[in-house]
Amino acid sequence: MANSKLNIILIHILFLSFSSFAEALDSQLKQQNQDEEERVPFVGVNIGTDVSNLPAASDLVAFLQLQKITHVRVYDANQDILKALSGTKIRVIISVPNNQLLAIGSSNSTAASWIDRNVVAYYPQTLVSGISVGDEVLTSVPSSAPLILPALESLYNALVASNLHQQIKVSTPHAASIILDPFPPSQAYFNQSLVSVILPLLQFLSRTGSPLMMNLYPYYVFMQNKGVVPLDNALFKPLTPNKEMVDPNTLLHYTNVLDAMVDAAYFSMKNLNITDVVVLVTETGWPAKGDSKEPYATKDNADTYNSNLIRHVFDRSGTPLHPETTSSVFIYELFNEDLRSPPLSEANWGLFYGNTTPAYLLHVSGIGTFLANDTTNQTYCIAMDGFDSKTLQAALDWACGPGRANCSEIQPGESCFQPNNVKNHASYAFDSYYQKEGKAQGSCDFKGVAMITTTDPSKFNFEFSCCHFVQLCWNWK
Ligand SMILES: *[C@@H]1O[C@H](CO)[C@@H](O)[C@H](O)[C@H]1NC(C)=O
Ligand SMILES: *[C@@H]1O[C@H](CO)[C@@H](O)[C@H](O)[C@H]1NC(C)=O
Ligand SMILES: *[C@@H]1O[C@H](CO)[C@@H](O)[C@H](O)[C@H]1NC(C)=O
Ligand SMILES: *[C@@H]1O[C@H](CO)[C@@H](O)[C@H](O)[C@H]1NC(C)=O
Ligand SMILES: *[C@@H]1O[C@H](CO)[C@@H](O)[C@H](O)[C@H]1NC(C)=O
Ligand SMILES: *[C@@H]1O[C@H](CO)[C@@H](O)[C@H](O)[C@H]1NC(C)=O
Repeated sequence: MANSKLNIILIHILFLSFSSFAEALDSQLKQQNQDEEERVPFVGVNIGTDVSNLPAASDLVAFLQLQKITHVRVYDANQDILKALSGTKIRVIISVPNNQLLAIGSSNSTAASWIDRNVVAYYPQTLVSGISVGDEVLTSVPSSAPLILPALESLYNALVASNLHQQIKVSTPHAASIILDPFPPSQAYFNQSLVSVILPLLQFLSRTGSPLMMNLYPYYVFMQNKGVVPLDNALFKPLTPNKEMVDPNTLLHYTNVLDAMVDAAYFSMKNLNITDVVVLVTETGWPAKGDSKEPYATKDNADTYNSNLIRHVFDRSGTPLHPETTSSVFIYELFNEDLRSPPLSEANWGLFYGNTTPAYLLHVSGIGTFLANDTTNQTYCIAMDGFDSKTLQAALDWACGPGRANCSEIQPGESCFQPNNVKNHASYAFDSYYQKEGKAQGSCDFKGVAMITTTDPSKFNFEFSCCHFVQLCWNWK
């Protein structure tokens, strides 16, 4: 009797400890999953709202889901958007605008009520993942610089009080110009006149496990250093080794400007003995249209930059200095902000127009999980290898003549004339015909010299970049 009672008690204890063990294991696994999720680099988008026909919040969120966009950043804490995001898996960074810094930086209770109103009221139904406090304050409103740290501290303390400081990170986005001599990255350092603000800020980020938020624009680096920084390098295009930038101090090879800018931030932090803060790229992008002084703001370059950026992040190859750490990025931006003042490029950074039609299509085939409206299932018709130019010319003549393909862009002087050879012209004309015929069966044959491909020709041949492929050309014009 006594024995069996003991057994029952033992079993009971065993069961109890097992179930609490299982619970602990479960919560540990959950934590691991969450950590894993945090570690997987992502591509998000910024949502600026100077848009004349901005969709209503619920339509906006439906659109984000349709496009498989999982991370967004907004420039305030718009209640309609926060409400509409409720119940979705979309993570959002909300912002304290510069004009609220004074109030929040000078009063703990104002900060606490800001957190109550904009975070506690929505979390976790709305997955607020971070707070960006002010925007490029050190360079755009230097007089507010002393407010940044108090604002960060008081917002952080309010999150601690609600036990949300693990899930929600607080930081402040900087312009790239706070870093001087960024090339080569190993020589980069923070502008010394700002160090008295930056050092305590970095110590705060280190202490709270928060990222250094940087707005990094290879576009401006390229524009300000024309002739020094090759366009290909700014656009992440494959480079011949002799075009790669080599940092003479570290011998690290840089194949693109963004990685160099990120490493410049790491070297600058290292100079201040901060080595455990990761860089989060809160803004990057390329404008698709500009005025006469902005000739590199084209749809082609914007597509190339953003598509290659997305691939670069999903490849998870990190930077030359930190191959183990791939920074997440937020593309600037979701919508063209048509209400912004000149130059023209200011209104043309968006992936989409305000009515949600694409400003241009990205070439992110194979990624699959980001931006539904990519070209994953796109097919093209191109000239096959191994035919002599006479045979191709005959097919080309038929396509542009009786076939009524649109061959205007491959005429001398037009944008797809180069590279000037019959194979490229034939590919252009074949694809034009194929798209015009709605990809009907038999419309990509041309007596056996044409073939269907799912690979964007521009991936193999960047010279074929007039309009990457014909259908986009049509969409663009
Ligand atoms: C805010 O709270 C912190 C920590 O409790 C305290 O050190 C600081 O003096 C307070 N600031 C203001 C402006 O009251
Ligand atoms: C460094 O920062 C100071 C203070 O904001 C500014 O006046 C100066 O122009 C900056 N230096 C450079 C080279 O950008
Ligand atoms: C960083 O550490 C080095 C070596 O310990 C020290 O000499 C230097 O003063 C430190 N710099 C800062 C900004 O703390
Ligand atoms: C994708 O883009 C095409 C062409 O602009 C457009 O007609 C279509 O509605 C878009 N689809 C989605 C899911 O956004
Ligand atoms: C591509 O097309 C196939 C077959 O039509 C379809 O099953 C698949 O879901 C499509 N993929 C994408 C990303 O649209
Ligand atoms: C042919 O293509 C050009 C450039 O894409 C376009 O401007 C023109 O309208 C097109 N012509 C026809 C008849 O579709």
